[in-house]
Amino acid sequence: MSILSGKHILLGVTGSIAAYKATDLASKLTQAGAQVDVILTGAGEKFITPLTFQSVTGRKAFTDKDLWGDEAHVMHISLGKTADLLVIAPCTASTMAKLAHGIADNLLTVTALASTCPILIAPAMDGGMFDHPATQKNLNTLLSRGCLVAGPAAGHLASGMTGVGRMLEPMELVGHVRAALGKHGTLAGKKVIVTAGGTQEAIDPVRVITNHSSGKQGYALAQAAIDAGAEVTLITTPTSLTPPVGAKVVNVKSVQEMLDALMNESADALIMAAAAADFRPKNIAQNKLKKRDGIPQIELEAAPDILKTVSGSPVGAKRFKVTVGFAAESQSLLENASEKLKSKGLDFIAANDISATDAGFAVETNRITLLFKDGTQEILPLMSKTEAAEKITEHIARLLE
Ligand code: PMT
Repeated sequence: MSILSGKHILLGVTGSIAAYKATDLASKLTQAGAQVDVILTGAGEKFITPLTFQSVTGRKAFTDKDLWGDEAHVMHISLGKTADLLVIAPCTASTMAKLAHGIADNLLTVTALASTCPILIAPAMDGGMFDHPATQKNLNTLLSRGCLVAGPAAGHLASGMTGVGRMLEPMELVGHVRAALGKHGTLAGKKVIVTAGGTQEAIDPVRVITNHSSGKQGYALAQAAIDAGAEVTLITTPTSLTPPVGAKVVNVKSVQEMLDALMNESADALIMAAAAADFRPKNIAQNKLKKRDGIPQIELEAAPDILKTVSGSPVGAKRFKVTVGFAAESQSLLENASEKLKSKGLDFIAANDISATDAGFAVETNRITLLFKDGTQEILPLMSKTEAAEKITEHIARLLE
């Protein structure tokens, strides 16, 4: 999570039962390398203590006592001016109203008014309070001013009722924090499409031909592109992974569906990390093949080559300024990758050896060699798929410059 590393995040905690979840958020941000300074409102302190936050951030947690303390004249200014992002989670209806109207009557709201960084709020309140015209008007005021709003989600509320008012879960909020911090990154204003996962080619209504791709490398690429500020579309086959916050997700199963999804898109960059099938059953049985009928003979045909199809667009109608492929090889890695680089019309290809136990399918790490169309190569050592994704997005940003 290098996007969070070294970032200064102010975390405002207001008076909601969801304040307990803010501890987890503070912990996750801290573990990801951010410097997290917590400011509790008086009502926030009724739900959770400064000591709890100090214990997870390793830093003093501020309260209204600090507003009236010795450093009063500078505290809110210095906090607000040095932060990369002010996150208010949970943010009550009352704090939303104060922010909307510029009311500065506690350390958090004074800091918010003095801050120059973006503000991200995670509303948490009862459903009726959130729906109230006053809250909705305040919400619109804040949105129109550029305030970022994450949630609230629908579900069980502290009142015992069900409705829209739950604060988003900490992991999802971390995703919103990343998207907010990445906004002005090296891919800001660029659109990136990433494909992920193994395609499924139906044999009958029950069975498919697929492969071992987990989607991890593709999802890491989508996250890295969001961290760099890109608008990301993730075209994915079914996986157990949670898509990164901010990605537009298109669900597909077969090569044909993946190709169809891509034919409707144009972008600055396409990253084909998906393990797409080369062969598929020529005919899909309408009904489940029965064991009693004996072992079926399944005739295969070539599946459409997605990269060849989309990079073969006529000049002038080229829909991807940079096209990146992956080569999954169990032998002659660089020779095969180099051949694919040329035949598929790519700007560069990431060659990974799928016979290694610490690289390729399903594992958390990858060992990649990047082959560029100008003949240069970059050998990346064993690294996490997240780090590999960051390296690949750096090259895309460079090529798009
Ligand atoms: O998902 P993980 O478990 O994290 O694993 C990651 C990965 C090993 C799947 C990934 O790093 C990877 O190598 N993806 C590409 C797998 C693959 O299909 O490789 P290939 O050498 O068969 O294909 C070369 C390129 O052509 C790929 O970019 C592929 O997406 C593309 N292709 C393949 C078939 C096809 N019909 N159309 C295509 O466009």
